[in-house]
Amino acid sequence: MAAQLTDSENAVIAAATPRYSRCKIEIGPRLSPAGGVAITGIDLSRPLPTAIRDRNAAFHTHHIVVFPQQVLTREQQFAFGAQFGSVEPAAGRGHGSKRYGVAHIISNLDQDGKPVDRSALPLSNYHWHTDKPYYRVPPMMTALYAVELPPAGGDTEFANTAMAYAALDGDTRRRIDGLRVVFYLGASAAGSACPSDAESRAAVAHPLVRTHPETGVKALYLGNHASHILGQPLAEGRALLKRLLAHATRPEFRYLHRWRVGDLVIWDNRCLLHRAVANFNLNQHRRILHRTVVRGTVPV
Ligand code: OGA
Ligand code: MN
Repeated sequence: MAAQLTDSENAVIAAATPRYSRCKIEIGPRLSPAGGVAITGIDLSRPLPTAIRDRNAAFHTHHIVVFPQQVLTREQQFAFGAQFGSVEPAAGRGHGSKRYGVAHIISNLDQDGKPVDRSALPLSNYHWHTDKPYYRVPPMMTALYAVELPPAGGDTEFANTAMAYAALDGDTRRRIDGLRVVFYLGASAAGSACPSDAESRAAVAHPLVRTHPETGVKALYLGNHASHILGQPLAEGRALLKRLLAHATRPEFRYLHRWRVGDLVIWDNRCLLHRAVANFNLNQHRRILHRTVVRGTVPV
């Protein structure tokens, strides 16, 4: 468990965050065996005290940190993310802004602002994935901030791939240690097809079992965008990835986050899978979140 902050750390934070000057920073209990913790009494619109930012213990211990009741502009959310590393520019269509320096928007709205259900599309966030594993240097952290939610549902679910790795039998672990996974954008839509020439050129290979650069803990790295195993026949690699994904997303490795407006949640893409859950009527209700993705290091 992450330790409570010391009184002097609390005093520094209270001084830096007038909105919360009467509050103590509090780190709650772990939200599930798989991870998650809530930290209250901190105003993320202001710079984090370096003690908090650098220690980062809650993030490394619990993998998912929930900061409830935040009031953040998109610029402030970007600045929050930038304290942890370099923030990825918005990519793709419909993200609300191409402008660098602001969090981008993810929603179920079409161009006319009408809710639409695109959850079944192969590239949607409603499949288990880690963010941008098809980058040579994939993100370490994603921050998502709830702006508008359906009346019920619209949750985000996480699966702890370090727990999943640790729970594998020794034979399987020996068999998969050292394998590399080929990732590319579009792999999820490929079915049984081979990557095209352009996709092959853009593909990257990362270790299937990666070692967390901060904690040294091993975790599976897979999910949507994973195509096959480098050097193995496509079908064989895909079957292995499918089996491992089913294992990694077993209920005991999961944490389900039920959002409240104002929650800012950060998660560790190096040891978690996640997905949006289509447990509301996407054609009827609006769901809007702001997103900031922080670059990590080359997986090893
Ligand atoms: C993401 C993502 C899940 C959600 O923004 O990377 O996967 O619940 N979001 O919206
Ligand atoms: Mn995602």
